Amino acid sequence: MSDRANQLIGDILRRIHEAIVENDVTYEEYQAAKQWFIDVGEAGEWPLFGDVYIEHVVEEHSFANREGSQGTILGPFHLPDAPVLEAPFELPHRPDETGDKTVFRGRVTDADGNPLANANLDVWQADAEGRYSSFMPGPPEGNLRGQVRTDADGRYEVRTVIPGPYTIPLDGPTGKMTAAAEWSPWRPAHIHLIVSAEGHEPLVTQLFIDSSDYLDSDVASAVKPELIVHPEPTGDGGFAFTYDFALAPARTPAMA
Ligand SMILES: [Fe+2]
Repeated sequence: MSDRANQLIGDILRRIHEAIVENDVTYEEYQAAKQWFIDVGEAGEWPLFGDVYIEHVVEEHSFANREGSQGTILGPFHLPDAPVLEAPFELPHRPDETGDKTVFRGRVTDADGNPLANANLDVWQADAEGRYSSFMPGPPEGNLRGQVRTDADGRYEVRTVIPGPYTIPLDGPTGKMTAAAEWSPWRPAHIHLIVSAEGHEPLVTQLFIDSSDYLDSDVASAVKPELIVHPEPTGDGGFAFTYDFALAPARTPAMA
């Protein structure tokens, strides 16, 4: 591993050094950057910064040749151990949850289209105002988070509300850096999923709502055209859309 560390850390530092020279970085700017590193740590924002500005390249590069459906970034707002729901599957929500009701359904298959029974869909999303439970004030713990299983034909169905777009936190150092560069802090409306089944690679992905603003300017650069969904009105004030997931076979474990 030391060869790898030598190569990778050396390369990253060399590129930082080049950027300093090419941009005539001053001592004041270096000191400001150092303070910013400290601020990010003290605010607990390294996961946010990494997932917003770096993760998408790791995801695109790691899975460039994977079979099956497209994935995208995990992001910093997933919580493990969301409750496993009972059919009919409806994400836990407040009695007066705002936002357009929607149902989404589809199939989970292997890369050849064979249905995967008892596949697990771990679903989490912001509310209609763009707030995640446990991370932002407003929604109660566990709101709009849950795990859903496919039936014998690999079919699933989830009832929820259409989430709203949201900004990364504006008050913290990541938001301040984003503002300093005059970049948009917005993420388009999306639903996160991890789709998994025995013998298959878990698929970490997001479904983006086609009517949302910011699809072309996602601060986290996570939108892919294959992940945009099209909710249609169902005539009762709600919406519905479909999405099928195809999972790649599990990677062969490395030899010990
Ligand atoms: Fe998100």
